Amino acid sequence: MMTAIATLIVHRAGKDGPEKVSRYEVPYAPGQSVLDGLRYVRARIDPTLSMRYSCINANSCKECMILIDGTVGYACTTRLQPRDMVLAPLPNKPHLRDLVTEIAPPDERLDHALKGG
Ligand code: FES
Repeated sequence: MMTAIATLIVHRAGKDGPEKVSRYEVPYAPGQSVLDGLRYVRARIDPTLSMRYSCINANSCKECMILIDGTVGYACTTRLQPRDMVLAPLPNKPHLRDLVTEIAPPDERLDHALKGG
């Protein structure tokens, strides 16, 4: 029996460096989330891939928000599909690394607090 595959095409942004694209094939099973696929990549294929998440599947922390096939969505609630899926960091936020963007408001950031802001 052939295992279905989901292909994650990940646009990886650097803080100041150029964007690069990595392509990962992960096993697909109905009901999995895009975050499940990304976590599989981190655990078994590429531990250097950076993404942010906290609650995993409750859609409550909102830290996993990325572009999924050109639409802003939560990686933890968007279903993985057995096809190519294009993932990218949010376009309107400062890029930190790979899929991670700066999502905290400026006055809530530690660097702001350390400066006495
Ligand atoms: S991991 Fe918390 S909302 Fe997605």
